[in-house]
Order: sequence, then C-alpha cells, then structure tokens
Amino acid sequence: MKLLPIILAAGKGTRMVSERPKVLHAIGGQSMLQHVINRCSELLNGDKSSSNLIVVYGHGGEQVRAVIDNEAIDWVLQAEQKGTGHAVDQARELIADDDLVLIAYGDAPLIKTKTLQSLVDGLADADLTVLTTVLDNPTGYGRIVRNSQGSIENITEEKDANAKIKKITEVNTGVIAADGKNLKSWLSQLSPDNAQGEYYLTDCIGLAVAEGKKVAAVLCEDAMEVQGVNDRLQQAQLEREYQKRQAEKLMLAGVSLADPARIDVRGELQVGKDVFIDVNNVFIGNTTLGNHVIIESGCVITDSHIEDNARIKANSVLENAHVGKNCEAGPFARLRPDAVLKENAKVGNFVEIKKSTIGQGSKVSHLSYIGDTQMGSNVNIGAGTITCNYDGANKFQTIIGNDAFIGSDSQLIAPVTVAEGATIGAGSTITKDTPAEQLTLSRAKQMTITGWKRPIKQK
Ligand code: UD1
Ligand code: CA
Repeated sequence: MKLLPIILAAGKGTRMVSERPKVLHAIGGQSMLQHVINRCSELLNGDKSSSNLIVVYGHGGEQVRAVIDNEAIDWVLQAEQKGTGHAVDQARELIADDDLVLIAYGDAPLIKTKTLQSLVDGLADADLTVLTTVLDNPTGYGRIVRNSQGSIENITEEKDANAKIKKITEVNTGVIAADGKNLKSWLSQLSPDNAQGEYYLTDCIGLAVAEGKKVAAVLCEDAMEVQGVNDRLQQAQLEREYQKRQAEKLMLAGVSLADPARIDVRGELQVGKDVFIDVNNVFIGNTTLGNHVIIESGCVITDSHIEDNARIKANSVLENAHVGKNCEAGPFARLRPDAVLKENAKVGNFVEIKKSTIGQGSKVSHLSYIGDTQMGSNVNIGAGTITCNYDGANKFQTIIGNDAFIGSDSQLIAPVTVAEGATIGAGSTITKDTPAEQLTLSRAKQMTITGWKRPIKQK
C-alpha cells in the first residue's frame, strides 16, 4: 500500500479576475499550489514506500507547470473542467488498486500536514474519510448530511440543497481519502445529473454509504486551515491569517515582535534567541537572524544572513547580503547582492554596497557607493566616496588595504588599489594605485583671486 496524494488545480478561478491561474496566486510569497505540494511532500516523506504525487491541471496549465518545478509530480491534464470527480478520474491510469489516495485542493493553502495524515490514518478502520469543518456561514459549500444516528449519509452541494439542508453548518472541506480500488469504482458511477451538470467527487460519499462501506468524518476545528480562496478578498484574509501564524511561530521561537500584526514573512525566516523586530518589516525568501539581532522598523530583507548582535537600522533594504557579528547597517542602507560585512563593520545612511566585502571593523558611514570592492579591516571611507567600477561597458575591481583612510568626496576609478595604511586626501579622483602608509591626493591647488568682485545685476 502506498500513499498517493492528488491535488486538484484545474479550476478556472474566474472570481480572481486574473490572467494567472488561481493556484499560482500567492500566500506568504509562495503560490497556493506550492503550499499544498509542500504539505503533501511532507506527508510522503513520512511514508517510505512512495515519493510521487499527482497534480491535476487544466486552466493555464502550461503556466502552472512552468512555475512549479518538482520531479516528484506526475502532471495530469484535465482539458475540460467537468467537476471535481471528473478531475480525479483523469488520473485513473496512475491509481493502483491498493494505493491510499488522498485528495486535496490546490486553492486551500493553509492545510496542515498532520491534518492530511489524520485522514490517511482514518482509513485503518474506514473505507472513506472526509475532512469537514463547521462554519457560521456555510453558504456555497457542500453540506455534510447525517442520519438520525449521526452517521454521514451524503454530501449535498449548495446548488442542489433544499432549505433544510442549507441550514446544516457542517461542510465538506474537499479533502478526502480512500483506497484506489474503491475510489475508481465510485468514480465510474458518478453522473452529472445535478444542478451544475458536473461530476461531483462528493457523490462518492453517498455511493460508499449505499454500498454499506464505512465513511468517517474527521472534523477540523480550525476553519481557517481548510479555507479555500475564490477571490482576492479571501486571498487577503488568508494572507493575514498566514502572517499571524508566522508571527506566533517566531514569538514562540524567542523573537520579540513590536507588533505581531505588522510583520510580513514571505518565505523562511530562521531566528536565534532574543531577536527584536520592530514594526513594518518584510522578510522575503530565506533569511537567517542570529542571536540578539535587532531589526529596526521599515526594512525589506531578502535572502540575507545576519549574524549575532548585528543591528539593521530603520528603512534599510538588504538583498542577498551577509552581515557579520556586531555589525550595524542603516538607517537607509542598501545592501545589494553579495554585500558582505565582516565582524564589527559599520555601514551608515544612504550607502549602497554591491558585490563587495567591507572588512572587519571598517566603516562606510555616509552617502557612498561601494561596488566590486575588496576592503580590508579598519578602513575608514569618508562621506560621499564613490568606487567608479563601471566604464559604461565593463566592471572593474577596487582593492583597499587594511587601515586605509579615504577622504570625503573621493572617487576611486577602478581598477585601482589603495595600499595598506594609505591616506587619500578629501576630494581626490584616484586613477592610479596609491602607495602604502602615504598621503595621496589629486586636487587643484587652492587660490584666492585678489580684487575679484561678484557680478551685479544690470538694470
Ligand atoms: C467543492 C466541493 C464542496 C466543498 C468545497 C470546499 C464538489 C462537487 N464540491 O466545491 O463540497 O464544500 O469544494 O471548498 O467537490 N477543480 C478541478 N477540476 C474541476 C473542478 C474543480 O480541478 O473540473 C478543482 C479546483 O481547481 C479547486 C477544487 O477542485 O482546487 C475545488 O473546485 P471548486 O470549483 O472551487 O469547488 P466548489 O464548487 O467550491
Ligand atoms: Ca471553491
């Protein structure tokens, strides 16, 4: 018996009013479908006998396949969307009789792995398990119809329901599990004889009951977990819920958040102990924060690595940056890809760093551009210094030795090397390598023109 997850993702998603297929819309920076795939992959990891899952795609299918890149997926095309039962039936060839099939929706991204697992586990003493939840407003959902003993009889879709059934608040979430043999037999018996003229997967429940098979409902207490997205309003609600959960996870992992409602994590954020994150920070991709890191407000941090005791001051933007221990960056710092700050380095306001290493204890405190530069330790870069790394066609390196001092408003025209301990006089344009331990400057001599008068406006 092997586990076989099937994710339904062929629906049009008309209500998104989008050129993109619904399942590619994101929650927490990741497509909804990817979330569900990840949960199914986790489920498969716990089951040594199988590793593949099926995604049924249709509407905008090529876009979906192009974005979701995963070798463990068997893609099944549902060319025409004739209902959820029809969708599963498209995968018939890939379903073995003794497979444990688990069906989930690609547009319900907050589902938890352990909830999916509970449906599979339920097959130990049932022929079909279905995940249900109770909603204050069940409008639009398939209702769980039970008999007087409380056992499930069938699922009735909203459009097929009478007034009495419409009052039922227990609804179908869409997640069901059954073995391959039963499932295929029920799928062959489905008919589109209903209000929507579709092959309803949900009719499998009534068919199972009619055959005297055992159907068990698993109740999901948390309705948000199984909430699907049909329009951008629901997407925004789920996004908030997802972010709330991320914030809770961070706090339980030892992070202090100035306001758990004002942080957005779009990806994975790994954290050490005693991290403090002020309001309105966005974390994108994979970022790690060491112990005692402080992130002041208003930063956007993408795929970066920030070590112990570092402080990112307000309104800084980091992408693919590595900030070493005890470093400070910002306020208003921009660390672009491959910016590396070694221990105790300091980058101040309005400084942009790209593909450069700022050595241990070195400081670039104000208004600078440092690109394609290797900087030693304890260097001081004066305000307004620019490494001119680009001649309009090619990029060149600047090398700055340990203990160098670059006077304010200097330009270092790459390729160029400033040797160890060298001092560059303020306002210099350095085009040739400069010697160690000496003062180099390039500046017109200061002069005063005696008798010079300011022009006067003519009448
Ligand atoms: C479905 C259920 C309903 C349940 C609700 C929960 C059926 C008949 N109804 O209704 O009981 O309460 O979900 O959200 O199953 N899909 C396909 N191909 C199709 C049709 C749908 O792949 O031909 C996929 C969609 O992409 C989506 C999922 O199946 O991921 C659900 O489809 P949707 O049209 O949203 O079903 P509902 O009418 O909401
Ligand atoms: Ca739906």
